[in-house]
Amino acid sequence: MSGINYSEKIPNNVNLSEDRTLQRALEQWQPNFINWWDDMGPEGSTDTDVYLRTAVSVDPQGWAQFGHVKMRDYRWGVFLNPGEQDRKIHFGDNIGEKAWQDVPGEHRANLRRIIVTQGDTEPASVEQQRHLGLTAPSMYDLRNLFQINVEEGRHLWAMVYLLHKYFGKDGREEADALLQRNSGSVDNPRILQAFNEKTPDWLSFFMFTYFTDRDGKFQLCALAESAFDPLARTTKFMLTEEAHHMFVGESGVSRTIQRTVDVMNQLKTDDVAKLRAAGVIDLPTLQRYINFHFSVTIDLFGADQSSNAATFYSAGLKGRYEEGKRADDHVLKGNSYKILSVENGTLVEKEVPMLNALNEVLRDDYITDSKGGIERWNRVIAKAGIPFKLTAPHKAFHRNIGSLSGAKITPDGRVVTDAEWMAQVGEWLPTNEDRAYVASLMGRVVEPGKFANWIAPPVMGINRQPVDFDYVRFN
Ligand SMILES: [Fe+2]
Ligand SMILES: [Fe+2]
Repeated sequence: MSGINYSEKIPNNVNLSEDRTLQRALEQWQPNFINWWDDMGPEGSTDTDVYLRTAVSVDPQGWAQFGHVKMRDYRWGVFLNPGEQDRKIHFGDNIGEKAWQDVPGEHRANLRRIIVTQGDTEPASVEQQRHLGLTAPSMYDLRNLFQINVEEGRHLWAMVYLLHKYFGKDGREEADALLQRNSGSVDNPRILQAFNEKTPDWLSFFMFTYFTDRDGKFQLCALAESAFDPLARTTKFMLTEEAHHMFVGESGVSRTIQRTVDVMNQLKTDDVAKLRAAGVIDLPTLQRYINFHFSVTIDLFGADQSSNAATFYSAGLKGRYEEGKRADDHVLKGNSYKILSVENGTLVEKEVPMLNALNEVLRDDYITDSKGGIERWNRVIAKAGIPFKLTAPHKAFHRNIGSLSGAKITPDGRVVTDAEWMAQVGEWLPTNEDRAYVASLMGRVVEPGKFANWIAPPVMGINRQPVDFDYVRFN
């Protein structure tokens, strides 16, 4: 294999051409990755050329190179943000010591687990989204879907690099297993439940990329603080790509709303039946989709009290969001934090040691961030002069993990009986009718510059190209 030009085939800044051990591991894994892509990647896309950005280096000119490429020929690369000289650990019990350039023996199992759990979500989302290309609302949207898919593929490469480089034989086995588990599989599912759910339609896709890719952002931000420097640098680079995924979600929902309010004004109605007859997605249905995706995603942060979270923090494996900007001692031994539970039929706050509540801390930071986009969506509605407001549901609504798991709590935070829940859940979460209606709108529109009836065109194209550019060429 010595004739391979590694920087050409696998763009990287990890000195791959000099690292024989890493070359051997990646060369064995790469054909399995391509097989996985062919079997589980975007359906019906083999012959299409897609206007994709590829990272070929970490400097500003290199990280986003655009051109038409076949997805299976995409140059999935391995990039770490540049290292900081003499970086020190800035939180936990080892604060002030040198950051680790290798994996300390005592943290090996936990670090491997963290990397595998993150790595598992990346191919999982590609699998969840693999049918969506068949019902794309436009060529522009199809290109964005494919861009996200190849970048989730690159995120998988990023985690596989860490496993191959730092975890020896078990790392190679874990990297193989990342291609063997499959989203929704009965025998061998993905690790986290939200990544085993279907992404059945484009509204779900936009909600997923707004809410669930944002969970990705917060997990990556927490790992970008890690004392294990290669993990910190890898995740920092991944965050540059994640921003586009969340943009696709936010602008996708925003354009859906735009089209709906335009039709509401044309027809001078907020009648759901009339709006559905006109082929747009009514605002109450959008609210139910928000309720669903918000609640399922905040479960991904884990139980509100977790001794693992405390261990990961104190050991320096995983920090808080923007750890470096916080004013406390970054050890948190005497600190407390408020979590919610249901006692005697009401929601109550209780103080617990902050170290055990770090999942909740990250969840709360996520909630603040995700509410920002909902406010921007509301501006689209307000600008159209329509008196309707979308809101994030209460944190305790529809939870399936931690102390709120299974509690019956309304989107505005009232504890209700099972009977009240059953009577009203159809107002709070998407019903079968909602889902069937949204599914009925999904038809493929791929003529350049044309858009499905339920969604408005974007304000701008990708990389300053016009909106009617041929982003995808079908051969
Ligand atoms: Fe990702
Ligand atoms: Fe993503």
